[in-house]
Amino acid sequence: MKILKIGGSFLTNKSGYREPDPKNILMAAKTVATVWKGGIRDFILVHGAGSFGHALVLKYKIDDGITSSAQKIGYADAHAACTELSLLFVEMLIKEGVPAVSMPPALILEQKNKRIAKFDTKLVNDYLGSGYLPVLHGDMVPDSILGGSVCSGDQIVAYLGKGADFIVLATNVDGVLDDKGQVIGKISAANFPEVSKHLRKTGNDVTGGMEGKIKELLELDTASYIVNAANPERIKALMSGKKAVCTEVRK
Ligand SMILES: Nc1ncnc2c1ncn2[C@@H]1O[C@H](COP(=O)(O)OP(=O)(O)O)[C@@H](O)[C@H]1O
Ligand SMILES: [Mg+2]
Repeated sequence: MKILKIGGSFLTNKSGYREPDPKNILMAAKTVATVWKGGIRDFILVHGAGSFGHALVLKYKIDDGITSSAQKIGYADAHAACTELSLLFVEMLIKEGVPAVSMPPALILEQKNKRIAKFDTKLVNDYLGSGYLPVLHGDMVPDSILGGSVCSGDQIVAYLGKGADFIVLATNVDGVLDDKGQVIGKISAANFPEVSKHLRKTGNDVTGGMEGKIKELLELDTASYIVNAANPERIKALMSGKKAVCTEVRK
């Protein structure tokens, strides 16, 4: 089993509010469809929430627990927005001939202080085994300590990726870049302190951006590849086990 994640930075205008990027969503759907029709079907698709997640979490101030009724409205609205984006993507996947089923994380997992503590992965694996493409996404999810919390697509990737063959994360840059804009070929625990000097914080991001992503991936024994979603050939190559321009992250 493999994991493919498409970043919210690619599917949406991340600095906007609930703003999809229809051209990019279509491009991502066509890329996934080509992989699927090429016979690679043993994968789970995860996508980020982009401006359907981060912007609402900041607006409603729901990043550190849900207590007030205004925050419950915020939780509900942010969850609705995340599923809205997922359905936009899923509808395009279905039009491209992929039997994609959106599986909102709010309904199948629970966190404990912002980390996944329970996850009904059987449901996901059953869909996969029956020939569907399970689609999960960054979402607001129940939290046994905080009432509710943000679960990033990257955290879902890290959780499901533990037993995976490999993980492909498509985003809006060619990979992790150094200060000259060159793609860093490999990141491991050994060079991460050096690499982290090149990581810039992005304002409109509640899940740690590129740094958060790499930290999640460095916890795993599975290899992962950060690649540009604007370059479908690279994603297709990596999903077929071939090489392409990307950053490999491996413990
Ligand atoms: N050194 C770096 N190399 C590449 N991207 C970086 C770097 N530092 C910060 N970033 C930012 O990280 C972003 C990708 O992370 P993020 O927005 O969380 O993507 P995603 O939506 O795929 O999770 C890039 O768009 C870029 O702005
Ligand atoms: Mg991100």
